[in-house]
Amino acid sequence: MATPTTYGLEEFVADMQELVRSRPDQGTLFDRGSPYLDRLIRNPNAIPEEFRHPSGRGRRPNHGSWALHRSDGLFVSSVVWGPGDGIDPHDHQTWGMIGIFQNAIQETRYRRTDRRDREGYAVLEKDRAMLMKPGEISLLVPGEDEIHRMDNFSDRPAVEIHVYGKDLVGLPRHMYDPANSAMKGFKSDKFDNC
Ligand SMILES: [Fe+2]
Repeated sequence: MATPTTYGLEEFVADMQELVRSRPDQGTLFDRGSPYLDRLIRNPNAIPEEFRHPSGRGRRPNHGSWALHRSDGLFVSSVVWGPGDGIDPHDHQTWGMIGIFQNAIQETRYRRTDRRDREGYAVLEKDRAMLMKPGEISLLVPGEDEIHRMDNFSDRPAVEIHVYGKDLVGLPRHMYDPANSAMKGFKSDKFDNC
């Protein structure tokens, strides 16, 4: 990993808010936003210690989703995948940047190839699988390249910083079952800290 920084969440949010307000196109947003996220995840103190662990309670005790910032057009969270934790293929319905902060996580991307004209039906083809390591950033392009599955096959929690253009809580999205060419709607629950 490159040199550590002291660039914190507050500076990151200020830079991203300014960027989002300039209404950049998708490419410009990633070109300018990724270096900000890169700096943030190279700061070993970027996330408070309490937000680097699975929640230990509720429906998914081996998972942690901690909201770090919410404002118009910008949402930042810390997402923790405990050992063996993961999620089936899903979409996001907004742009996203995921920076790996601690440990590593397997990300599998899918391409949707059907005509999108049948209710509950979706054909996915596996596009690529990547072991995402600390300091790496994964970009989600809405409608184009944003369907993924995540798996932590390791024995330690993996911690990521997620940045989105919309608050994911209550946002209508889709979960996919590639083996049965099926899809269904879902919404994220509230976060573990609010
Ligand atoms: Fe996701």
